[in-house]
Amino acid sequence: MKTIVYSFHKFEKPYFERANAGSHEMKYLDVKLSAHTAPLSKGFDAASLFVSDDASAQVLEILHQNGVRFLALRSAGFNNVDLKKAKQLGIRVARVPAYSPYSVAEHTVALMLALNRKLIRAHSRVTEQNFSLDGLTGFDMNGKTAGIIGTGKIGAVVARILHGFGCRLLAFDKIENEILKQRHHVQYTDCASLCRQSDIITLHVPLTDQTKYLIDNTCIEMMRKSVMLINTSRGALVNTKDVIQNLKNGKIGYLGIDVYEEEAGLFFEDHSEDILQDDTIARLMTFPNVLITSHQAFLTQTSLQNISTTTISNLDCFEENRILENEIEQ
Ligand code: NAI
Repeated sequence: MKTIVYSFHKFEKPYFERANAGSHEMKYLDVKLSAHTAPLSKGFDAASLFVSDDASAQVLEILHQNGVRFLALRSAGFNNVDLKKAKQLGIRVARVPAYSPYSVAEHTVALMLALNRKLIRAHSRVTEQNFSLDGLTGFDMNGKTAGIIGTGKIGAVVARILHGFGCRLLAFDKIENEILKQRHHVQYTDCASLCRQSDIITLHVPLTDQTKYLIDNTCIEMMRKSVMLINTSRGALVNTKDVIQNLKNGKIGYLGIDVYEEEAGLFFEDHSEDILQDDTIARLMTFPNVLITSHQAFLTQTSLQNISTTTISNLDCFEENRILENEIEQ
């Protein structure tokens, strides 16, 4: 099947070429899907998209006019696709629901540890032959209360890892995971109570109308002083301006983010030669207690292998009119 692949990265290439093995006629583009680049889809049956691609109503109209009938997302999240519009146009959409919850969960914990033990600062000191320890004091994770918002596939793995550290675990989710309760002593509570009691709060719910700006001034006000906030889910779960205000007044003691609400056009790209135009992320980058990674939590060999094989299998199923297990309910 003729497939146009938007936002294709160098790091995906070997995995995709191996998984496809010549079955589908692929055109790999490094540009993002937008109203501007959608016209390139003329003559393709399917388009494969990444998290940063814009599949809003206007863009979907163009893809549809050009003959695209299937979107194979190379991601679990699908908040960048207007599903209602896709359904109206008869464009089917499939995703990679679970490629490795371990990749994201382990990166989440890496952010926690690097912030707590000030690893970035320690490393840069050592490279300057400054072997002093002043200002590098961390805390024991053992015995601390960690609040996990969203205990689906990723949140559950985070819970298991933090249980191993000896953390007390609180969770908020609309569905309670009985295994986490029994085996890892996870206590479910409401979001406000989790915020009031947690030393560390980590976000693993998807971005929806209900979860947008879940973390704002009202919510932060309930949190403990010097709380550690980690977001590896989606940027807009957090009101970044409110977070900055609370970093300035010390209410938030540590912030680790792999996602940012305005990450489109910034993350995944090399802007090292450019003048940074986004004043919000520029301010975030000035705090010594903020650690930012550029949406890389998923980036492990296992994830890339699973993303590519599932994406090719989704294309196979669509082409052969077989049941599309990974189709998103529209
Ligand atoms: P999942 O679907 O397994 O878990 C999500 C959990 O959130 C579910 O347990 C669900 O009940 C809960 N939930 C949803 N809406 C809620 C609400 N309004 N209130 C309370 N609980 C709610 O998803 P998974 O695989 O654990 O992924 C979580 C998120 O992680 C994804 O939606 C995606 O945004 C993000 N992600 C980030 C990646 C990265 O590289 N940084 C890579 C993959 C996913």
